[in-house]
Amino acid sequence: MVGNQKMKNRLVILITVIFVFTGTFSLKTFAQQSTEKKWWKEAVVYQIYPRSFKDTDGDGVGDLKGIISKLDYIKSLGVNVVWINPIYSSPNDDNGYDISDYRNIMKDFGTMEDFDSLLKGLHGRGIKLVMDVVVNHSSDEHDWFKQSRSSRSNPYRNYYHWWNAERGKPAPRYSLFDVNHDAWKYDTLTNAYYLHYFSRKQPDLNWENPALRQEVYNIMKFWADKGIDGFRLDAFQFASKDISFPVFPEGYEKNFIKYYAMGPYLHDYLKEMNREVFSKYDVMSVAEGAGNSFEDAHNLVDPDRNELNMAYAFEGVDIANPDGYSLLHFKEVFSRWDSAFASKGWLSIFLANHDQARMVSRFGNDTPAFRDVSSKMLSTFIMTMRGTPYAYNGDELGMTNAGFDKMEDYRDMPTLNEYQHQKNIGGDIQKFMQHIKFECRDNGRTPFQWDNTINAGFTNSTPWIKVNPNHETINAAAQENDPFSCLNYFRSLTKLRNSIPALVYGKYTLLDKSNLNVYAYTRESEGQKMLILLNFSSSNAQADIQLTTNAKVLLSNYKDAPLANKGKSIITLRPYEAIIYRL
Ligand code: GLC
Repeated sequence: MVGNQKMKNRLVILITVIFVFTGTFSLKTFAQQSTEKKWWKEAVVYQIYPRSFKDTDGDGVGDLKGIISKLDYIKSLGVNVVWINPIYSSPNDDNGYDISDYRNIMKDFGTMEDFDSLLKGLHGRGIKLVMDVVVNHSSDEHDWFKQSRSSRSNPYRNYYHWWNAERGKPAPRYSLFDVNHDAWKYDTLTNAYYLHYFSRKQPDLNWENPALRQEVYNIMKFWADKGIDGFRLDAFQFASKDISFPVFPEGYEKNFIKYYAMGPYLHDYLKEMNREVFSKYDVMSVAEGAGNSFEDAHNLVDPDRNELNMAYAFEGVDIANPDGYSLLHFKEVFSRWDSAFASKGWLSIFLANHDQARMVSRFGNDTPAFRDVSSKMLSTFIMTMRGTPYAYNGDELGMTNAGFDKMEDYRDMPTLNEYQHQKNIGGDIQKFMQHIKFECRDNGRTPFQWDNTINAGFTNSTPWIKVNPNHETINAAAQENDPFSCLNYFRSLTKLRNSIPALVYGKYTLLDKSNLNVYAYTRESEGQKMLILLNFSSSNAQADIQLTTNAKVLLSNYKDAPLANKGKSIITLRPYEAIIYRL
């Protein structure tokens, strides 16, 4: 009897242990699922390029006070996170991506007091702030580099990558921005070469040096202590390097990401950064680039690895090209990424940023007949996919490429260097000019079009880069008053995104996969099901989808109601039509 009771007790303990164990296990597994609720998954990110947003001090360059003056506008967009490109002290070789003091504000942009007011103003409106951390490289005018360069025995020498010239020339490294594409710059002062994957004024920091890493974590903590809500790690996938600098195979530069990204200790550094910084604050973290494969991307962001929150992959934006692109390819890429992240990890969804030409010019149709409707269609895509949507400032108005014809109108340093490079090698300049007219990132950096006045209401002096002449018709003031404008459509979209959990967490299913013109998919979770139909073409297009009679239109980008498609098994959509149905 006593023995039996003992047996029973043991059994109960065993069952309890199994239950607790499997319970915790399944809870843990659940915690790693894409459906686990997080504020940064529910965010709608609005990216501000500060140089071009709003100038208040009349120097032709946007500033923090300018952003502050537009906080109510930003709030009205329905976004809840702002990502602002670098605002730290910088000699501006690469518009702030060359930082000379990580704890100060660039003079052109204002002061630390301005920054504090900006943060307060955002937080007061329930908007969080994400800032860039540019630490694959610094400016050559940063004190660390000045010290590092000064002598081989300087304590800062190992903050950068140096190759002493008596060892011969280092193995070639391709520079993305250099006029000769050479990432090694010889410096007479100490008879050594330093490494710069970007411009000569952006020497690469030596992440293999623990002292440098600690400096960076302290800088990040400085900003997190100020209350910022997240970090975007610029070019960080390149940070860890094999510092023996082995020779890469010939032609490696055509696929440089394969050789530059995900270096030997990258994950160790991210884990360390997570321990030292991210884990101590409620911040979101995203790195530019996601390596070479899904495995790389997962290794960066899967929650059980304690590195970053969300991947930011380029395969989607890389699809566009001047000769057009295939919707089948577009659907295939976005569906493949979605399915790879369906149960674990989290993605960013975007079609533009400050390094890209304008979304509507690359993926939509910027001719007067279709600009408005195709912009709205593309925004519908961004706001209805699984992943955190990122809208780039101006895209809510359907701003287009400026498409400069003259070299003197371009400002982008790598473009100017490449022009010189093409001239030096006797390249095809006409072809180059055609290419940059469509692709150059200056297209996405022209001043924000606030109104139809002479400089689009951006500045009262000469803007640092030309205003797009189409600001006379495409501008925020005009769209504010038009209930059917891109701007007001964008607001309706964010409202839907913010109020329908299925649009954030819901399962994505591609429909009518082989349709050449229509992108159709559903998003569903917890009893909610949305159907999204997007015509990516400039003609009427049909989709092979049965639309139930109870389907309710939540939003569409045409003034008139969608065609009477309910109950039919073939749906007809007008050019660039976008419809969100609740099924
Ligand atoms: C990233 C930034 C880009 C910058 C480069 C060098 O790609 O997005 O604007 O030029 O890094 O910092």
